[in-house]
Amino acid sequence: MYLLKRITILTVSICCLVVLGCKNQQVETNSVDYITDTSGKVDFGKTDTSAYTPEIRVNMKKLYEDKFGMFVHWGPYAQLEGVWNDEEVSAEWIMHNAKISVNDYEKYAAGLFKPDKFNASDWVDIAENAGMKFIVLTAKHHDGFAMYDSKHPYNLLDFAGFGRDVLKELSDECAERNMKLGFYYSQSQDWHEEGGAGNSWDFGSRIKPQDKFDAYFKEKAVEQVKELTTNYGDIFMVWFDTPIQMDDEKCQLMMDVVKENQPGALVNSRLGQGFGHFDVSIDNGKTPSVSKATWLPDLKVPWQTHESVTQRGWGYTSYGGENDRSEEYSDFIYSLCRIVGNGGVYLLNLAPRPDGTIPQSQVNSITAIGDWLEVNGEAIYGADPSPLKFPPYAITSKPGKIYLHIKDMEGNKVNLTGLLSKVNKAYCLADKSKLSLALNQTGEKLSVIIPEELKQPRVTVVVLEIEDYNAKVHNEILQQVADGIIKLPVAKCEFAIRRISYNYEEHVTHRWGENTKQGLVWTVNITKPGIYKVLSEDNGNDDYVFELRTPSDTLDIEPKGNMGEMTLKSHGNIQINQKGVIKISAYPKETISMSSQFKFKGLVLEPVK
Ligand code: GLC
Repeated sequence: MYLLKRITILTVSICCLVVLGCKNQQVETNSVDYITDTSGKVDFGKTDTSAYTPEIRVNMKKLYEDKFGMFVHWGPYAQLEGVWNDEEVSAEWIMHNAKISVNDYEKYAAGLFKPDKFNASDWVDIAENAGMKFIVLTAKHHDGFAMYDSKHPYNLLDFAGFGRDVLKELSDECAERNMKLGFYYSQSQDWHEEGGAGNSWDFGSRIKPQDKFDAYFKEKAVEQVKELTTNYGDIFMVWFDTPIQMDDEKCQLMMDVVKENQPGALVNSRLGQGFGHFDVSIDNGKTPSVSKATWLPDLKVPWQTHESVTQRGWGYTSYGGENDRSEEYSDFIYSLCRIVGNGGVYLLNLAPRPDGTIPQSQVNSITAIGDWLEVNGEAIYGADPSPLKFPPYAITSKPGKIYLHIKDMEGNKVNLTGLLSKVNKAYCLADKSKLSLALNQTGEKLSVIIPEELKQPRVTVVVLEIEDYNAKVHNEILQQVADGIIKLPVAKCEFAIRRISYNYEEHVTHRWGENTKQGLVWTVNITKPGIYKVLSEDNGNDDYVFELRTPSDTLDIEPKGNMGEMTLKSHGNIQINQKGVIKISAYPKETISMSSQFKFKGLVLEPVK
């Protein structure tokens, strides 16, 4: 199969070169497009195709179809509402950030936590009304507290004598209502246990001696995941997090436990070491460029990102959990459009109060998405990503159709460049009569006029019915501009693997360099080979080096200086010897710290006279 894929890619490439040679135009269809040599494995790691069993495939297809789920961060931290010693500290990280001892946390958080207003049916109503198709609840977060009936005594039923199993109530309700259920489990960080990673304030160091960590992992983490995968009906997804101290053996063990008890449960990549069935490495709704790099030849494996309707953390705080974000409704909707347009799935987080109720302000935010989906769901559920690699706005597709998602539309004209398939008809998805919109298609340029009365608040979706089953497109190839200058903005590159994300508002990378495979790859048409001076636009970082590669040369770039400010800095010269379409790439030489705020906007190459 793999060989076949390589041969196909080679054949397509040769064809493209021939076409390029004749017409200087690259015609592509949206066939599977790997830009990384993944040796037959999905690009985030060690999971090979054999992990995609028939049961996993069924759920993976559902996930691809569903696109939108509810994340819930809820635990004893909610009891503290983000405040310790009269100071606003943080949400679910409060124990860590305020260095609250295990004793105090037991006394003031877990010991008082009795969420007696929890109502599973309300929660499922809220998810349903938002158009969400699955719920993922934090069964144990880093504070080590089990939110379900565990044999380990530090749990919701026993510790404060609450007595109700909220996870059981939720799983019963979900089963009855056809809502899929998953759980989040912090497998490595456990601030309550001496052997769990993370608690340095009670136990001396964040990283634990191997024997202690092994014992914690075996006795608590594995046992609890066994409980969770046996006692709560069908589990759709297991969402692990922060894989500190996880090695291959431990990851494999967790994969095996989950598989044995829940053969269809989808495991996320934060289990660690490249294990898992789908990648969730990207936080806060920051999305990567269009790539189908995680698609298997016969299975579309989506990646996933998540953000929260609350502010200042994922769990409940008095200062970030009650905020009315109605002004930002369209941002959440547009996040969803953009994520689906890039091949992803969106998990949107709510944070219930300590009593188990979900604040109305949070409900409002997500219900608005549900209302929008009620009208525009066709463009989201089950949709494929944009056929264009660098869409000017969110674009999704289905066979024979392209959906243009226009946020807060100003004026009446929508433009698109690069679509080669003939458009037979354009209409607004919200318009039940499907009135044909005036359109003008000349070569690869298209414009559609939206009458004022058909414009939607938030996001207007325009449907293009096209002649081809799969859209034919002409992906932009960067060209040298005046004086031979080559501009390489991040906005116009592809990512070699999923684990990099891009901030659409600022047009910069987000957490680039956490992995040395995080290549940024530009496709450029060179008309003037030669030596180029390299300028990098970034906000500076002292300990970061990345390597710029052309087919003829490499150059190390150290973006030091002007820390914090976006500036254009010069870094020496690089050679480009050949004419024609080439790839230029930038790869981290070593990994950058997780907390780095490094932002990179792109490169400018100036010919040296
Ligand atoms: C991070 C945080 C955690 C949160 C998660 C959600 O890993 O440690 O608090 O649950 O992100 O993505």
